[in-house]
Amino acid sequence: MSNAEEMKKLAGEKAAEYVEDGMIVGLGTGSTVYYTIIKLGELVQSGELNIIGIPTSIATEKLATEQGIMLGTLEDYPEIDLTIDGADEVDHNLNLIKGMGGALLREKVVAMVSKREIIIADGSKEVKMLGTKSALPVEILPFALAAVKPKLEELCIEAILRERDGKTFVSDNGNYILDCKFDAIAEPEELESRLNNIPGVVENGLFLDLANLAILGTTDGLKILK
Ligand code: A5P
Repeated sequence: MSNAEEMKKLAGEKAAEYVEDGMIVGLGTGSTVYYTIIKLGELVQSGELNIIGIPTSIATEKLATEQGIMLGTLEDYPEIDLTIDGADEVDHNLNLIKGMGGALLREKVVAMVSKREIIIADGSKEVKMLGTKSALPVEILPFALAAVKPKLEELCIEAILRERDGKTFVSDNGNYILDCKFDAIAEPEELESRLNNIPGVVENGLFLDLANLAILGTTDGLKILK
């Protein structure tokens, strides 16, 4: 296992310790949450833990089902006790960029109804200012691509239509994603409201004031940001 992978595992497994018996648990998406889901699956299968998971993507739904975790929907469980999710950038105020895995829309809905949101990542995701390492994913309605792209490029350096395997990437919700490059995002609240005001933008990857705790796996061990 590579160093980066070990740090993800460290953070991912640590987060599972915050899950208590009987909880409704939001299950994030990505390669770090993978380790949390595997750990939770072990605890469920050994009978130590009884939880209901609310998945934030089709991939997570599949993985959690394979691990024997019982799943529910927001219709049945409109309030979530704890969500564990990854991030692409974490700043010192626990504001985030998310969505490089393409699941930002469902992740943000789940974060909104979660009493507590724990973010897990390897230490390389920690930044002083958002937008300095990762692009900002913006999910858009496919119909609106030609109209929205130039509007986004008034706000960022470049908005690149995400592709996968040579084809346009389509999210679990049937939408496209434009990855917006910035030098840095100095005023994330202002940017978020401007993005939300563009017709055709479905959601953006700025997660502001949604996380309560970040667990980062570093070469020196775990680093906790509160
Ligand atoms: C999914 O859309 C994302 O928000 C992920 O949570 C984020 O990209 C982190 O993923 P990794 O844990 O794979 O880096």
